[in-house]
Amino acid sequence: MTEISISSCRAFVFDAYGTLFDVGSVSKRLQESLGDDADKLSDLWRRKQLEYSWLRSLMNDFTDFWNVTGDALDYAMAAIGKDDPVLRSRLMEAYLSLDTFPDVVETLKTLKKSGHKLAILSNGARHMLIATAKSSGILSLFDEILCVDDVRTYKPHPSVYQLACDKLELEPSEISFQSSNGWDVAGAGQFGFKTVWINRTAQPAERLSHKADIVVARLDEILPLAGIPKAA
Ligand code: LAC
Repeated sequence: MTEISISSCRAFVFDAYGTLFDVGSVSKRLQESLGDDADKLSDLWRRKQLEYSWLRSLMNDFTDFWNVTGDALDYAMAAIGKDDPVLRSRLMEAYLSLDTFPDVVETLKTLKKSGHKLAILSNGARHMLIATAKSSGILSLFDEILCVDDVRTYKPHPSVYQLACDKLELEPSEISFQSSNGWDVAGAGQFGFKTVWINRTAQPAERLSHKADIVVARLDEILPLAGIPKAA
């Protein structure tokens, strides 16, 4: 398969959770309260968060991602037998200051310096995305923070990806979309973006129509593909 080039793309658009922000960093930070249940809670919380986003879209029953994230946490805490309102509020609070993955900040700064337009396109509620981007010092690098609040449905519905074309005034093929979530890459590719799957955890490819145009393990691998030599 000839590798699609993203060097001609006029904007680089990023998924947030799992791509820029490490959703697992919350339970790692609260390990002392969660003990052996930390990993199980973290995985179940993320799984239910995504499941609820897909189900609410299909049911046409939108609520924002802060509520979805809280509902998913309630399910996960019940599953491990934790009924602890103080712990719940600490976990939700921590979700507003997630760690970025190690390769994120420098990669974004390098892309920005090279004159590319940058945007976040996420299921996250606006206040969540702004808080987390601010806490990790990357908010000022983005030309746009795009979230599903404006279309009241979740990824991978095409109207979410259309937001990037509308706000950046670009055609789908002019946009390089980066996500660690294979299903999000499939939705974005189906819509018409060039897609880069940041396969951080060496997952198998999703069995969906669109196959990622480019697959890398780390975000900084996109720099040479965007025509930017990696810093020596
Ligand atoms: C997002 C989730 C899907 O940021 O990672 O949209």
